[in-house]
Amino acid sequence: MSKFQGIRACVFDAYGTLFDVHGPLRKLAPEVGEKAEEISRLWRQKQLEYTWLRSLMGVHADFWHVTGDALDYALEVHGVAEPGLKDELMALYLKLEAYPEVAAALEAVRSRGKQTVILSNGSPSMLDSAVRHAGLEKLFNFVLSVEDVGIYKPSRRVYRHAMQKLTIHDAPSICFASANTWDAQAAAQFGFQVARVDRFGSIDDRIPGKPAALIKDLSELAGLV
Ligand code: 2OP
Repeated sequence: MSKFQGIRACVFDAYGTLFDVHGPLRKLAPEVGEKAEEISRLWRQKQLEYTWLRSLMGVHADFWHVTGDALDYALEVHGVAEPGLKDELMALYLKLEAYPEVAAALEAVRSRGKQTVILSNGSPSMLDSAVRHAGLEKLFNFVLSVEDVGIYKPSRRVYRHAMQKLTIHDAPSICFASANTWDAQAAAQFGFQVARVDRFGSIDDRIPGKPAALIKDLSELAGLV
């Protein structure tokens, strides 16, 4: 894997990349039972689909709203209607755990003199809560939400927003890290130098854009930039 050249900032996707989105149902699995894993998978899938559908429809709602709608859908498909369960899962979504290597990986990237930034679909309050819960506040220069733009990833407007906020005018000076294949590929197609984090053993989607590197987790990132 060749080293990225000329990187000034590392921009990170949040959900699935820094934070483990399957934690809430793992935690409540004793109450939910054997369907927990499948509900979590469907929740995530529908959450992403709804962002794409709303962006195409031109009917934006923030990620908290979309995440709640997706959870309603997943619970109904699996016939789960325990009172209070949705609220409990949504509350846990505000306190997701960071993957174990994240803090040290961010410190290593920052020690190389690179800015570190989040660029996420999450609403500002969701991101603020997750970053604080994981104790990562001091490890980011700033946190960017698609709410500033009013459309979800992978709209090019979102990736452009990061460039504008960083006042970096050439896309390849930005390293983008995401564990979401479609996000990594779209960011590569946009022009960032992308490291896809292989957390889920996924193969690339059949869409344009090829990440420059595939890393097993974020501990490998500092060595690339
Ligand atoms: C994020 O924007 C897509 O979940 C992903 O954080």
